[in-house]
Amino acid sequence: MIRVICVCGARPNFMKIAPLLREFAASGQFEVLLVHTGQHYDENMSKLFFEDLSLPAPDVNLEVGSGSHAVQTAEIMKQFEPVVEHFGPDYVLVVGDVNSTIACGLVAVKLEIRLLHVEAGLRSFDLSMPEEVNRILTDRISDMFFVTEPVGVENLLREGVDPDRVHLVGNLMVDTLLTNRQKAATSDILVRLGVEERSYGVVTLHRPANVDNREQFGEILRAFAEIQKEIPLLFPIHPRTKKNIMQMGMQRQIEVMENLRLIDPLGYLDFLHLLDHAEVVLTDSGGIQAETTILGVPCLTLRTVTEQPVTISEGTNHILPEVTCESILDVYRSIHKKASMPALWDGKAAERIVHTILKQHEIK
Ligand code: UD1
Repeated sequence: MIRVICVCGARPNFMKIAPLLREFAASGQFEVLLVHTGQHYDENMSKLFFEDLSLPAPDVNLEVGSGSHAVQTAEIMKQFEPVVEHFGPDYVLVVGDVNSTIACGLVAVKLEIRLLHVEAGLRSFDLSMPEEVNRILTDRISDMFFVTEPVGVENLLREGVDPDRVHLVGNLMVDTLLTNRQKAATSDILVRLGVEERSYGVVTLHRPANVDNREQFGEILRAFAEIQKEIPLLFPIHPRTKKNIMQMGMQRQIEVMENLRLIDPLGYLDFLHLLDHAEVVLTDSGGIQAETTILGVPCLTLRTVTEQPVTISEGTNHILPEVTCESILDVYRSIHKKASMPALWDGKAAERIVHTILKQHEIK
């Protein structure tokens, strides 16, 4: 049996891990230990996703919780090391670009365990994003790279990675979306929120660059103030954004918008249903850019760069020349639907990843 530790920690990791765990189990050749770092711990940021995605309970939960970047990363490393030593895996598999990804990656390579990085090679070329630092460092120390779109391969090769280690496999978020779309169709979230199909926009916002800076956040809210006059906006609010609104005393700016509705973060199936029937999505999330592309829902990403350019060239995504109220309104008014799907975003990424690991394992 090939022994693999699969790491997850934050909300966007859970959707990526789910199809992989199923595929590892189906192959019958892996012994998998699922480790949750506890980076996200609220019921609706974590537990709901395990239920919705039928994920098995983690074998180990490091329960590290929140903290500064240094504290969180260090705490994960401290707690993860003995788990790796005890399990003795052939591989540690990490996904995405969150603090849990780099923390566990570092522990693995220092124990000379081969590191597999899923969603490798993406770059925003903006080092002020914590995720960009996590991506670059994780890719620097990984042994095998699983990539979602061609630009990721280009980035890795330019950085000197051996092409034999790079595998373009598609996007696990899409595997999960396609597996769950039927199930999500039965969600009663529209009834619960009292909205009709295609009569609302969905907003999500949590990037430090947007919500930690009063001026930047204010620009975005000014644009929302205009857009919500045209279409009601539903805003499942991330805990850090909620905390910042309170701390920066911005409640009043939110309250005056009659058609901007703040709601609690939703589980995977409810949120997918809400996205699927939205008229438009305004977000700074990475995963939602991919999801709206597959659903064919217009998406305005409230950033000036994206590390997933295929969502623009092939999909329904749009970015901004600058994150100002005027730019947001300009692009919002010009967005339109497109139809094509990025190559390999077909629901079979997990299958390709597991197949590749098996093949490479035999070669070694
Ligand atoms: C993290 C990831 C980001 C990802 C996002 C998805 C990093 C550097 N960032 O950002 O890439 O897009 O997850 O959500 O890893 N909090 C709670 N309850 C929770 C989780 C967080 O209240 O369950 C609050 C805490 O106050 C915490 C803050 O949210 O300090 C930020 O959480 P953290 O995990 O540090 O970063 P995110 O902003 O969620």
